[in-house]
Amino acid sequence: MGRQNGKKDVRILLVGDPGVGKTSLIYTLVSEEFSEEVPSRAEEITIPPDVTPEKVTTQIVDFSAQEQEHESLVREILKANVICIVYSVDDDDTIDKITSFWLPFIRDQLGENHNTPIVLVGNKTDLVDYSSLEMILPIMNQFPEVETCVECSAKSLKNISELFYYAQKAVLHPTSPLYSADERD
Ligand code: GTP
Ligand code: MG
Repeated sequence: MGRQNGKKDVRILLVGDPGVGKTSLIYTLVSEEFSEEVPSRAEEITIPPDVTPEKVTTQIVDFSAQEQEHESLVREILKANVICIVYSVDDDDTIDKITSFWLPFIRDQLGENHNTPIVLVGNKTDLVDYSSLEMILPIMNQFPEVETCVECSAKSLKNISELFYYAQKAVLHPTSPLYSADERD
């Protein structure tokens, strides 16, 4: 965790497959409205402590495979205090990639037993009338670094500030997992 004037700050990195809505989530948070037109990668933004619930300076960093080389993704993973893996609730492929690619890839960079909390973010809930959490909860049991999960919609402005709040909280008030996967029957 970075420190500035004695205060911690929190660096939040958003990763996930192309098109899941990472940039849209950041734009919606900042502008409080959904825009159909977003660039592929948002500029890094810094939110001053007085407007965040936890009163910490918060950086939000976007990732785009279109714009960024592998090395720069690795650098950002190393710098992040918390990583949000965004998936699209209407696209099972993006859910499969959480366990087939993203979580193992992050472990490859940080080590098997790393301490960087992960938040799983299911975007585009406006497109479906079911919950993806049934598919997500087993992942939380299997990967103890996953701190929490949240479903949201950039388009209908649902759970946007909550998602960034959960990410802050994962850094500032981590909960140790109640049980690890191998303790389960
Ligand atoms: P890359 O930059 O290519 O990795 O994609 P991204 O994850 O940043 O996705 P982006 O924000 O560019 O959104 C991709 C498409 O999904 C765009 O057409 C968005 O308008 C759309 N989109 C984003 N969020 C939502 C949402 O909550 N609901 C719906 N229906 N569409 C969304
Ligand atoms: Mg993008």
